[in-house]
Amino acid sequence: MPLAQRMSLLGTETAFEVFNKAKALEAQGKDVVHLHIGAPDFQTPPNIVEAGQRALRDGWHKYTPAKGLIELREAVCEDLLARRGAEVDPEHVLIVPGGKPTMLYAILMFGEPGAEILYPNPGFPIYESLIKWSGATPVPIELLEETNFNFSAEAVLAKITPATRLMILNSPANPTGGVVSRVEMDRLAEGLEQHPQVTILSDEIYSRLLYDGEEHVSMLSYPALRDRVILLDGWSKTYAMTGWRLGYGVWPADLIKHAERIQINSVSCANAATQIAAIEALRGPQDAVEEMRTAFDERRKIIHAELNDIPGFSCVMPKGAFYAFPNTSGTGISSMQLEKQFLYEAGIACLSGTSFGALGEGYLRFSYANSIENIREGLRRVRASLQPA
Ligand SMILES: Cc1ncc(COP(=O)(O)O)c(C=O)c1O
Repeated sequence: MPLAQRMSLLGTETAFEVFNKAKALEAQGKDVVHLHIGAPDFQTPPNIVEAGQRALRDGWHKYTPAKGLIELREAVCEDLLARRGAEVDPEHVLIVPGGKPTMLYAILMFGEPGAEILYPNPGFPIYESLIKWSGATPVPIELLEETNFNFSAEAVLAKITPATRLMILNSPANPTGGVVSRVEMDRLAEGLEQHPQVTILSDEIYSRLLYDGEEHVSMLSYPALRDRVILLDGWSKTYAMTGWRLGYGVWPADLIKHAERIQINSVSCANAATQIAAIEALRGPQDAVEEMRTAFDERRKIIHAELNDIPGFSCVMPKGAFYAFPNTSGTGISSMQLEKQFLYEAGIACLSGTSFGALGEGYLRFSYANSIENIREGLRRVRASLQPA
């Protein structure tokens, strides 16, 4: 079957593959501890579930406007004002099925042969995959352990060329747990004023999962850049709603019509009842969000201490999201080999750092979106698997 050539350029998110492998092992009766999953292990808060059920009972069974329900877009804008101090017109908000579509739409909008797109490496694998698929050249923004996976604005700005169309940022970050500091963000924003051809896609999906008093610095908070910042956020991580599939993009005035057009050409609109539940998520009580964050924080400290106790591992303290990204080069075993060894020999699923780009060699990603008991058991298995027989 002659497929379009670009199909060979598309990568994947290996978390889904490891998930299938772990499920296959479990189907054979093997016990697997899941520390590879990028989803909160909590259930969606009951008030949100109730709002979704009510919406279905009340007849929310039809298409909504392509951009999403106006009441939801207004609720998004209230939230943006309250948390990011950014005034946004609901007409610039596009409600989409999950965090990923905003990424897809932005990369398709700017990516083509000859264009360069900057993206974090190690970083969420879909960035590089979609950039390549679009025909553009992926240009990595290197995130280094030495700087706690923060970046230097100067180094990032030095990567911009006349061919740069889009710069993708992600803070707090997957897979490193790194958070870009206000100082570097300010410097970057200032430097970007010299490069008006560069649009910024700021993936802020983990903005409410911060620890140790870290602050979230949103790209929307720089007035000089507002006409070229695309903000990506959603409900998946904050409200434990990964399976509901809902997210949003805030688009500059010149781009929103193009984003809406891609939406109409693809999914039409996001699920109607889910949109009603999402209004409740934003406008209802926020206690559950803080309870989940507090639980992640406790687990973060435990996983950090336990990882540093494993011979050959060293791990910087993650500052955001729910991932730890230990350096495993002291084991002398490649990341992919460790991923396989731990899954098939020890029954613990984690992800090779190379799933997040070439710069992830020598690292593994462990998710701490799991119980303390499971985290301890998973790492006990890791330690045992590394012990000489
Ligand atoms: C950095 C980042 N952006 C976006 C997403 C996609 O989120 P969603 O599941 O809502 O599509 C993820 C999911 O893991 C992520 O880690």
